[in-house]
Amino acid sequence: MSEIDPLLDLVRAPVRATGGYQVPHPRGIRIKLDANEMPFALPTEVRDELARELAAVELNRYPDPGHRELRAELSHQVGVGTDALLVGNGSDEIIQLLITCFAEPRKGQLRARVAYPTPTFVVFRGAALAVGCEPVEIATDPEADFALDPAVLERAVADARPNLIFFARPNNPTGTLWPSHLVAELARRHPDMLVVSDEAYAAYAGDGMVAMLPELPNLLVMQTLSKVGLAGLRVGYLCGRPELIAELEKVRAPYNVGALNQRAALFILRHHRGLLLRRCADVVVERERLAAALDQMPALRVFSSQANLLLFRIGTPGDGRATAVWQRLCERGILVRNFDRPGPLSGCLRVTIGSTDENEAFLAALGDALAA
Ligand SMILES: Cc1ncc(COP(=O)(O)O)c(C=O)c1O
Repeated sequence: MSEIDPLLDLVRAPVRATGGYQVPHPRGIRIKLDANEMPFALPTEVRDELARELAAVELNRYPDPGHRELRAELSHQVGVGTDALLVGNGSDEIIQLLITCFAEPRKGQLRARVAYPTPTFVVFRGAALAVGCEPVEIATDPEADFALDPAVLERAVADARPNLIFFARPNNPTGTLWPSHLVAELARRHPDMLVVSDEAYAAYAGDGMVAMLPELPNLLVMQTLSKVGLAGLRVGYLCGRPELIAELEKVRAPYNVGALNQRAALFILRHHRGLLLRRCADVVVERERLAAALDQMPALRVFSSQANLLLFRIGTPGDGRATAVWQRLCERGILVRNFDRPGPLSGCLRVTIGSTDENEAFLAALGDALAA
């Protein structure tokens, strides 16, 4: 028993053992390239229109628990039926819902299993542990740009028989785009397993799996507005077979997305979707420019990316150089994400693609930091 606080003994052991989702906030940061956000705020005229729209929302009333207008718009834009759509408080909530809902252990297993290739988005593991599921991690090859060996994938799935498998396509933090045919073939071979294509960054890759939904009854596709310029709204959505969506709806909190957020998402999707897509295209151009510039830097390896981020390795794993460079970038007011700890991302930093000016400032500061 804990002598300090016996209530902490009641926390699930795997939850206590994890550090949680921690994001460093050093002082004096002027350029924030650590969270895979879109660098551009909405233009002033769009903000003014939005302010008028939001002023009409009746905040004395609960939000629409069925997100009907928003789902109708998403249905129209994504090309799936409204009953094939679930709206979440960001994809983070949807990941938790999926793992909470489909957590019945298979025959012969004590705990349900949740699989995903690694390294990947940390919420898959955290959400699995939080509800008592067993994470099944499938290693990728850092020396081959984090490619996924189909034989390794098949063996891991056949051995562990997970209830769910998540593929972040493109992946965070590596930027890798695991091929859709690999995911589709796995879904076909294992019709009793849910296969989730997490397409948070699909706007930067132009490769989504929504069109495959009719032929793959165990496929679910998750997308979000966060990475296309609306991270503050917390709106994500899941597309899949209505029977599966209906089960997930039973687990979802009724008022999971606030009235202002629903109205803002609806307004921007209806009237300014083109603007978001144009900006994504601008970010892709910047990504290619930044990748080429990083590629020229000595003792640095940049991994190929289809998302709005670039992962790069400095020096040799374990030499501590990457952390020292991260520190020097912070001192120059530039925040990127530090992944330099033992494991496949040893020596790695991840930079989010910023505006041209931000990227220039980052490159200059990185050049100085590497030379120091
Ligand atoms: C792969 C992946 N999926 C999902 C999310 C969560 O997105 P949201 O902001 O919609 O919760 C992220 C956020 O970084 C991500 O990288």
